[in-house]
Amino acid sequence: MTSCRYLLGRNLGTIEGMISSAATSDGTASNGTVSHTHPGSLDSGHPLMDGRTADSPLITAYRGGKPSRRPVWFMRQAGRSLPEYLKVREGVAMLESCLRPELASEITLQPVRRHDVDAAIFFSDIVIPLKLAGVGVDIVPGVGPVLDKPVRTAADVAALPKLTWEALEPIREAVRLTVAQLGKTPLIGFAGAPFTLAAYMVEGKPSRDHLGPRTMMHADPETWQALANWAADASGLFLRAQLEAGASAGQLFDSWAGSLGLADYQRFVAPASARALDHVRHLGAPLIHFGTGTSELLVAMRNVGVDVVGVDYRLPLDEANRRLGGTVPLQGNIDPALLSAPWPVLEAHVREVIAAGSAAPGHVLNLGHGVPPETDPTVLTRVVELIHSISPE
Ligand code: CP3
Repeated sequence: MTSCRYLLGRNLGTIEGMISSAATSDGTASNGTVSHTHPGSLDSGHPLMDGRTADSPLITAYRGGKPSRRPVWFMRQAGRSLPEYLKVREGVAMLESCLRPELASEITLQPVRRHDVDAAIFFSDIVIPLKLAGVGVDIVPGVGPVLDKPVRTAADVAALPKLTWEALEPIREAVRLTVAQLGKTPLIGFAGAPFTLAAYMVEGKPSRDHLGPRTMMHADPETWQALANWAADASGLFLRAQLEAGASAGQLFDSWAGSLGLADYQRFVAPASARALDHVRHLGAPLIHFGTGTSELLVAMRNVGVDVVGVDYRLPLDEANRRLGGTVPLQGNIDPALLSAPWPVLEAHVREVIAAGSAAPGHVLNLGHGVPPETDPTVLTRVVELIHSISPE
């Protein structure tokens, strides 16, 4: 039953992927722009293939099966909430820390050691593929990603350098170092979805309403499509590097997709997100799609061809499950704001999330968005203990 549901999910993903985007049967993009075209699935020494992670609680729940304990991890579990993170990051810029394999690996492992979470999330950033392609970008503390030059015209898009497979070597090295330490705990790889990545590229910096990319998709749809395709291929290759080097699942973050209406999402964004995933579908690892403010987009986000939908804190999981027809494992959705509430309030909330999630064919506990930097890390450990203490019946 478990494997049937899993296979069904994968097949649907493949069919939709074929309709909506540009994959060929060997998994390479049909436009021929992918520089690494090695087809086929993960090799036999990969953690998902050699028995290390395939039956872990996380992968079991992602595949709609019955896990031995309730799996939990936290978006942004690595980061400023941890004193050990602040210590190793001292004097090292954010993007630099992502490109030093030993350091990126150490930071990835810190929250696993401390909290006993059921997954590591690879320490990197959605703008790393830009940086490795040669685009001038930095992460300004307290601000976020800032580009030397925003990408706004057809000429700007045409001038974007191509990300090569070779440039991703520091990423593969960091992943290899990490999975060698993780044992049976799966590593989740990730990438930014084309809309969220392009939103930073067009604005040149973080913005609230993402007016620049939303104007571009209507005013200059050809340039928008070229940009979204560039971002899809860069993100897709970045995710593929992580999965081939040892990650057991992949999450596509479309954090800012909630600024779009459904019609714009389906017309201008979903095909590019499907194209990003076309780079990795053939590998057979579970794929998760997450966004914030996306309650109205959940079905469309599932339909780009993923196995699991991540839900933000705005929509109860039983309602998310209803909208998805009761067929899709869910991830989420503890409200990050409640991490600072008194313990009895937080505990009651976590129990409610578990009850609502039990309607879905699989449930991986997570936050509705990232760990706020000011979070007391001992609270996160306590939340993990609580979740693990509740039987997965
Ligand atoms: O534990 C994890 O989740 C792993 C690592 C991770 C980071 N960024 C590390 C990071 C992941 C998965 C991301 C993805 C990411 N980056 C997203 C999608 C997820 C989301 O949060 O919605 C987005 C939108 C970005 C872009 C970005 N990078 C922002 C908005 C910021 C915050 C800027 C700030 O200083 O407040 C970053 C920087 C960043 N990425 C930090 C971390 C740990 C903080 C930088 C620091 O600690 O110095």
